[in-house]
Amino acid sequence: MLYIGLMSGTSLDGVDGALVDFSDEGTRSLGDAYIAFPASLRADLMALQSAGQNEIEREALAANQLVRHYADCVAMLLSNAGIGPDAIAAIGAHGQTIRHRPELGFTRQLNNPALLAELTGIDVIADLRSRDVAAGGQGAPLVPAFHQAIFNLPGHTRVLANIGGIGNISVLHADGTVTGYDTGPGNALMDGWALQHLGQPYDANGAWAATGQPIPALLAELLNEAYFALPAPKSTGRDLFHADWLNSKLASHPHATPADVQATLTQLTAASLAQAIVRDGAQAETVYVCGGGAQNASLMAALAAELPGMAVESTEALGVAPSQVEALAFAWLAWRFTQRKPGNLPAVTGAQGLRVLGALYPR
Ligand SMILES: Nc1ncnc2c1ncn2[C@@H]1O[C@H](COP(=O)(O)OP(=O)(O)O)[C@@H](O)[C@H]1O
Ligand SMILES: [Mg+2]
Repeated sequence: MLYIGLMSGTSLDGVDGALVDFSDEGTRSLGDAYIAFPASLRADLMALQSAGQNEIEREALAANQLVRHYADCVAMLLSNAGIGPDAIAAIGAHGQTIRHRPELGFTRQLNNPALLAELTGIDVIADLRSRDVAAGGQGAPLVPAFHQAIFNLPGHTRVLANIGGIGNISVLHADGTVTGYDTGPGNALMDGWALQHLGQPYDANGAWAATGQPIPALLAELLNEAYFALPAPKSTGRDLFHADWLNSKLASHPHATPADVQATLTQLTAASLAQAIVRDGAQAETVYVCGGGAQNASLMAALAAELPGMAVESTEALGVAPSQVEALAFAWLAWRFTQRKPGNLPAVTGAQGLRVLGALYPR
């Protein structure tokens, strides 16, 4: 039986889908699809990231919109593969994070899995983070368990750096243990700045950032954020790294040019990832990057410059397209659920133990 993973992350860009065959012989990707969100849905999702009027109704309506895009993504995967819904055992549907407050005992991924089951005729596994939080964990990151399952090379240390809206690392240690946590901002702050100053959802290839120069004093202030020095387990989101956070730091740099700020934000993502990699994965020879940040040449160059002696490549070098890794991970979590096998790594999330993650909405 085949599985579908649907991932829409903190970048709010759209949904990545993966069609996957899991078996004892390994993991085989049979197709991928991407559906970009219209600007109106992005704006609605962005507005739901912080408190506002009439949130319950706005959340429900946005969830219905989101799930219609999820269903389109599923239809595209099925039609490209020439198969019907009956061939799919389950969809792992992440939903859209609108609050992440594990310290208060909750994380909320907006979703309507009942509607997705109705639209697709496929079993849907949703709400994949809450059980880990209920067990005292961060509920994030969840991808390290999947990274270990498919990228582990016994006797070697490997680092995976996932650069979505937020950045996170997985360190697959030579002894088989795994370290992983959110490192801080990935693309989210850069995207917001590009939207504000270029009117574009992101700085394509980091070309705009390349025209600027990082501002050392501003970079130091940004890196002074307490989150970066916190010990793991830890996870973060737009709850902390949002436009107001950036604007409060910019207040003391009124003459900074927008391009220099973009260069500084690029450096912030690279430096915070590199600090974490040096702290926990210094034995690795190569850092494998996935997520949309792998498409940002300025960011990749900045990360390589921060990690002398380590190669920085995309996961393409391991045979997996960088945009696909997280969608594959959510297909894998759906597979784990159907086997009633745990999906979390307590050493990563801080949960009290292994837990089966998700809830089933039967077709
Ligand atoms: N060609 C590109 N140049 C620069 N950045 C890109 C490019 N393509 C994608 N990105 C970045 O990747 C982000 C999407 O990455 P993704 O892995 O989907 O993140 P998330 O999991 O948070 O949704 C975009 O918002 C953008 O910042
Ligand atoms: Mg995305």
